[in-house]
This record gives sequence, structure tokens and C-alpha cells, in this order.
Amino acid sequence: MTLNSAVLDEFAAALGPKGLTTDAEAIAPLLTDWRGLYTGAAKAVLMPASLADVQALVRLAAKHRVPLVPQGGNTSMVGGATPPPDGSALIVSMRRMAAIRAIDRSARTVIAEAGVILEMLHEATAAHGLRFPLTLGAKGSATVGGLVSTNAGGTQVLRFGTMRKLVLGVEAVLPDGSVHAGLSALKKDTRGYDLDQLLIGAEGTIGIVTAATLRLVPQPVDLATGWCGVESPQSALALLRWLELRSDAAIESFELMPDHSIAAVLNHLPGTRCPVDGRHRWHVLLDYAGPDAQAELSALLGTALGDGRITDAAIASNVAQSQAFWRLRDSISAAERALGPAIQHDISVPVDAMPDFMIDTAAAVEVAYPGVEASGYGHLGDGNVHFHVRAPAMPDGDVAQWRKGAGYAASMMVYQRVVAAGGSISAEHGIGQMKRAALAQLSDPARLMTLRAIKTALDPLGIMNPGKLVPLASDTVAQ
Ligand code: MLT
Ligand code: ZN
Repeated sequence: MTLNSAVLDEFAAALGPKGLTTDAEAIAPLLTDWRGLYTGAAKAVLMPASLADVQALVRLAAKHRVPLVPQGGNTSMVGGATPPPDGSALIVSMRRMAAIRAIDRSARTVIAEAGVILEMLHEATAAHGLRFPLTLGAKGSATVGGLVSTNAGGTQVLRFGTMRKLVLGVEAVLPDGSVHAGLSALKKDTRGYDLDQLLIGAEGTIGIVTAATLRLVPQPVDLATGWCGVESPQSALALLRWLELRSDAAIESFELMPDHSIAAVLNHLPGTRCPVDGRHRWHVLLDYAGPDAQAELSALLGTALGDGRITDAAIASNVAQSQAFWRLRDSISAAERALGPAIQHDISVPVDAMPDFMIDTAAAVEVAYPGVEASGYGHLGDGNVHFHVRAPAMPDGDVAQWRKGAGYAASMMVYQRVVAAGGSISAEHGIGQMKRAALAQLSDPARLMTLRAIKTALDPLGIMNPGKLVPLASDTVAQ
């Protein structure tokens, strides 16, 4: 059925005056993804304010066969929340469902609705002396629903794990309008397939997440942030292993950054400076939690410097300085985007294999595709880096062709090496539209069969976030 005005009127009647907009100006920012790679079209944005609203809109969507594209902060790195360009779908913005329904201090849990922004969640839980231990650069926009739906990671996974480890229960509306009421966070439950786990990382393809019960941890006794210069990814990983053996306290984050990424950030953010002086080939940013964190980390890094494990070190002397260190790290993505077109790969391999993998793969790609620049940065402690292949200098008009030709081939080279190393072509950003073809070409038949079978069984009408995650028959050729 076509999405005509009579159908839109039905949605408007079900959701009330604040529940739907057709205002082109309001819709426009929701049509393009964060990377600026995909632009879709939508006649309206639905804005449910309650679980009942989501049920009502899903039932109408099923009745009229209208595809729905759930969206939170629109920070997907893979075009996961961008509607298709044909205007057939409606965006479901979850931003009005932004209540924190409950914080349980003794059980250390929070029930947050899908539209709660991560930074708000941090603030709300901190007010209770607790902490939701997942953070990422987009924390000012990313929402709980998107974090759950992408099994997001970020910069504290080293100690606390990804969303899959932190989500204790999910409430969601399934494609037939029924509700999965899974918020009770049971410790034991053997009723078969785990629908909570199925919805985590499902990218809205089998239902719309409306709320989640999340695990909280106590605030750290003390936390210190350190910045080190290091010679190579190998020496960075050796430093992590050395620190882990020598401290009772926890290393919460361990991020690796090449010097040229830091140079790009300093250029991008006027008035900033690198915490360590001089040139260092690589940089490490780490958070260390435990009693007397500053003194302990200072002593450890002093020894590491004396032993030649690192080339320099600085420790943030207060919270503001720690935030300034982290701002540099969290700005790499935006700073690199400003440098020009590149193909981004969010990849993981076993942690101890990553240093050699990233150096060898960068060299191999640069030899095979002259003019490109390849390098990785990110979550070394998780075996996950963001590996960018920058396009050679070329007129703007040629970039799209490059992406489909040599850029695509270079990308497949990276992915084939990831697969050969037993890794994943999507460590923390999801598949979205961007990686569907790569997933189709590089996944084993069991994974593809399972993805397609679950999608077809739970969403037989194909109304849930079409074109995302689950490979299509046409995905065997370059997008
Ligand atoms: C990061 O770690 O900076 C984010 O995942 C964003 C990115 O990869 O661009
Ligand atoms: Zn990341």
C-alpha cells in the first residue's frame, strides 16, 4: 500500500498532536547519517511518548505494510538509522521516550527508556553514587535504544564489557505489535531462546527497543588518567600487559592513537595541546582505577619510562585535565573526517594479534593501492581498532567512483585479512547499510542462514528497519 495522507492521518490520530511531524525542516536532519554517506527520504517522523504509542504505531505499520526506521541520537557509524531513499518508510524517533523509570541502589540497576541520552544516564546514576560503565565519543547524543540495538562498545569495554554484558533486560515491541516485557533482570531463566540477547545488536530489525534494565557499578574509589608516548602498537600492548601484572587496580581504558591522528585533532580543535611534549610515533591514553590512583599510576609510568617501555608520560592532575585528555581522543573521528574521504573499518582480532595485524595490514594495503594511507587507532585493549584507508588525492567528483572501485577492493583486502585472523568485520558499530555487502561476502553460511531465518520468522512483513544488518540477495556485488 502507498503511504498516502489517509494512512498518515491514522498514525497522527493514534499518536496525538506531538506524535507525528511532516515538517520538512524538522525531518531534514534525521535523513542523513553521521558520516554523511547516506541520505534517505521520509514523509513523516513518528515520535512516540510511551510503550502504548509504540505498540499502536507498529500495529498500524503492519496493517498498512509501512516500513519503520527507529532512530535515537542518529549517531550510527554505518547508516543504521537512515531511511531508504524511496520515501517508503517512516522514521520512528525515540527521543520523547526519555524517562529513567527507576534506579535501584541495592540491586545496582537502572531502567532507562530508549530515548535517554548516554550522558544524561551517566549524570542520573552518578547522583545515586553509581555509574553506568559504558562511554563513547558520541555520549552527548547517543541514546539507550541505539546503544542496545548496536551492542555498542566504546572506551570502557576493557573492564566492563560491551552492552551485551551490561544489559540485564529489554522491553521491546515486536513486529506484530506484541510486547516483549523483559525488564525484570532475572539471574536465572531457562525458558529457551533469549529474546533480550536477540534484540541486543539486532539494529531494530526484529523489533523496537523501548526500554532496558542496565547494570550499574559503584563509582571508582579513585581514578587517574595517563597519557604516554610509545614507539609502536607492539610496545603499547606490552605496556598494557605489564601494567596488568603490576597493579591490583584496574585498567579501565587503554586507547592507542597514531601521532598523525593526534596532529589532526590538534589542528581540528584550536587551542588544544598534546599532553606530552615532542614527537612520539604512537600515543596511549589510559584510565586507572584504584586507591591512590594518581600516585600509583605515576610510580608505574615512572618505572616504565626508566625501563624504556614508553617514550614519555603525563598524568592528568585533576578532572578537568582528564576531560581535556579524553576530548582529544574522542575527537579523532571528527578530526579525521575533516581530513578528507576515507573508508572506515571497525575491526577486531584477538587482542594479542592486533599490533602486528594493524602494522602489516596498513603496509600491505598501501603497497597494493598506491596513494592510499592506511592506519588504525582505538581500543587496543579490546583488540578493536578503527582502521581507516584514506583516498589518494583526487577531485571531489571522483570520490564516489573510488569508493566503488579501488576503495572497495582495498576494503575487501582489509576484511579478508580480518577473517583470516579469526576476527570480526564489525566490532562495535554494527552492520547497518554500510557493511551488509561485506557481511554477505565474508560470513560463513551458518551465520547468514541464521540472520535471514530469524529476520523472516519474526518480521515476515519486512517492516522493521529494512535494508539494515540482514544481507539482501543483491549484496554479492559492491554497493
Ligand atoms: C571511536 O572509537 O572513536 C568511535 O567508535 C568512532 C569512530 O570509529 O569513528
Ligand atoms: Zn570506537
